[in-house]
Amino acid sequence: MAENLENVDTAIEASKKVVVSREKEIGESAEHPKGPVGLDIGTSHIVMAQNKGKQVNTVKQLNAFFTIPYSKFTKKILVENDVSFYEKNNQFYILGYSAENFAKMFNANTRRTMEQGLLNAHEEEGITVLKSIINTLIKDSPRRNEVICFSVPGAPLDGPDSVVYHESIIKMHLTSLGYKPSSINEGLATVMAELANDNFTGIGISMGGGMCNICLSYLSVPIITYSIQKGGDYIDTMVGISVGEKATTIKSMKEKDFSLSSPPRDRVETALEIYYIELVRSLLKSLETTLLKTDKIPKISTPVPIVLSGGTVLPTGFKELFKKTLREVNLPINISQVKIADDPLNTTAKGAMVMALSEEI
Ligand SMILES: Nc1ncnc2c1ncn2[C@@H]1O[C@H](COP(=O)(O)OP(=O)(O)OP(=O)(O)O)[C@@H](O)[C@H]1O
Ligand SMILES: [Mg+2]
Repeated sequence: MAENLENVDTAIEASKKVVVSREKEIGESAEHPKGPVGLDIGTSHIVMAQNKGKQVNTVKQLNAFFTIPYSKFTKKILVENDVSFYEKNNQFYILGYSAENFAKMFNANTRRTMEQGLLNAHEEEGITVLKSIINTLIKDSPRRNEVICFSVPGAPLDGPDSVVYHESIIKMHLTSLGYKPSSINEGLATVMAELANDNFTGIGISMGGGMCNICLSYLSVPIITYSIQKGGDYIDTMVGISVGEKATTIKSMKEKDFSLSSPPRDRVETALEIYYIELVRSLLKSLETTLLKTDKIPKISTPVPIVLSGGTVLPTGFKELFKKTLREVNLPINISQVKIADDPLNTTAKGAMVMALSEEI
């Protein structure tokens, strides 16, 4: 049967487009997307991507919530100020970026629907909140059956695998909104967004808040995928424990102006550097062990690139740290280059959108 492969050409073209990104504004209503959608369901952020003319547009929402006690008065004020929330059991559940503002006012931490890349088993309301946060970005499918491709992590190397549960819950929700959902591994999404010029062959690594996702892809086929449940949150927690500060304080300092290419200026920066080195080392060790153990490695004669995405790769000097640590391991395939994705916080959503475009009915 002859198959129409025009969609695939459109998808390849889209993977070469620039991303124009923004944060969801408080009070801004969700969109009725036109055409296929990519959705990155991340521990820290949920990002939606759409193909728009010469560019790919992404919009981002914080994957966090905060609860405050119910009062009729507060309800009126929340509504008037366009805060996203729902009420349950005498509480208001404040969603997304609005939750961050409340947490700051209360000098407390926001709560998370996900932990280490997967649904947070310790938050009873987590699933309902996650669905509500997704609903702040997308409304139900206008045409019905619009394709949506969402990211899922690879099975964790170092923990129990509950990816099936996580994936099924999200799939059910997107189906209930009228979409035709499919999933893409987060490491493969990185490859789909960044390696068009390498025929989608190489190693995609997404280093996010909750975990790192790794995929060895050959001609867009995921050969090996896995995750390690360590990422930016792990760095924040460990540095916080080491220097006696709250993880949220460390996170803000890390995101503000931390650099891996200049000597640490104080003990927080020293600890940040130590845990960055430790994270990259354990990631590359896991890659060495996994690749040496498998019999699935294709006989690739030419060296392949490694592309790095996710918020954790953002500090200046990260690429150099990665390249230096790469020399400490012996991978059974040759690496041509290490590159940082064009827009690391939006790479997964873009890759998922590229996949959704190719699957359009
Ligand atoms: N400028 C920055 N410098 C350093 N780290 C940053 C910066 N901006 C964001 N981060 C970190 O990146 C992480 C979030 O990245 P990202 O949004 O890619 O994660 P995610 O996709 O939500 O999570 P995951 O993929 O692990 O489920 C957080 O740990 C955050 O602190
Ligand atoms: Mg991610």
